[in-house]
Amino acid sequence: MSKFEGKRALVTGAAGGIGRAIVASLKDNGAVVAGCDRVGSDIVADMAFEGDLTEAGFVEQLVQNAREALGGLDILVNNAGLMRRGTITEATDDDLRMSLAVNVEAPFRLCRSAIPVMAAAGGGAIVNIASCWGKYPGPDHAVYCMTKAALASLTQCTGRDHAHQGIRINAVCPNEVDTPMLRTGFETRGLDPASAVRDLDRSVPLGRIAQPEDIADVVCFLASSAARYMCGALVEVNGGKPVY
Ligand SMILES: NC(=O)c1ccc[n+]([C@@H]2O[C@H](COP(=O)([O-])OP(=O)(O)OC[C@H]3O[C@@H](n4cnc5c(N)ncnc54)[C@H](O)[C@@H]3O)[C@@H](O)[C@H]2O)c1
Repeated sequence: MSKFEGKRALVTGAAGGIGRAIVASLKDNGAVVAGCDRVGSDIVADMAFEGDLTEAGFVEQLVQNAREALGGLDILVNNAGLMRRGTITEATDDDLRMSLAVNVEAPFRLCRSAIPVMAAAGGGAIVNIASCWGKYPGPDHAVYCMTKAALASLTQCTGRDHAHQGIRINAVCPNEVDTPMLRTGFETRGLDPASAVRDLDRSVPLGRIAQPEDIADVVCFLASSAARYMCGALVEVNGGKPVY
């Protein structure tokens, strides 16, 4: 039997680099998956919820809508994220507002609505995609690091508070992953993404930055019964590369 046979999952940021890989891996392992992203036609899942995670009303309804469409909710993956570059003196109010809304407020609201649903069903698993850059201070990304640190803390707090309800809440903390988020960051700075990725590969002890599937595999592990004794963990997936 596939490890997620009969399980129902909701994944945010489902059209992005890591999100697509998470959806594919959950589906390959037997789950029925609802994906959320800004453009519904970009979502390759069993069902698509198109919407903007900065809109509280959309987010407040998302778990309920997914639960009704899927017939229940066993797994939530808070994967959507936004990276705004810069030191604090370069950050705008818009950088702050948008980063908090997508990276912190949306996962906060989704956890808040999913936990009672999962508790009523006897348990579930939530996996948040934080970042190594939320555990350690990465350079020139003050707002991003701050919001990922908040998500890491939310994971630890909720992981502890809701374990007694059979809900396991953990986070994956990647270092650099080869996705549109990373590549558009290079483009914005006028760099060639292909050669910038090759340079980054050389900085990783394992010899390459992560591919989305490297992260999705760990997400699926945390969502599965193989991780049945893990609650509130921040799992670094970094190829041996520290943040510096
Ligand atoms: N790529 C990396 O190097 C890296 C490293 C560590 C952590 N992460 C985290 O992994 C997660 C996935 O990132 P990715 O690299 O796949 O990025 P990505 O840009 O490829 O995907 C992010 C997805 O989130 C969606 N999203 C963003 N804002 C949204 C909004 N307001 N409403 C609805 N959807 C929205 C985007 O449309 C996109 O599809 C993020 O939380 C990111 O912070 C990425």
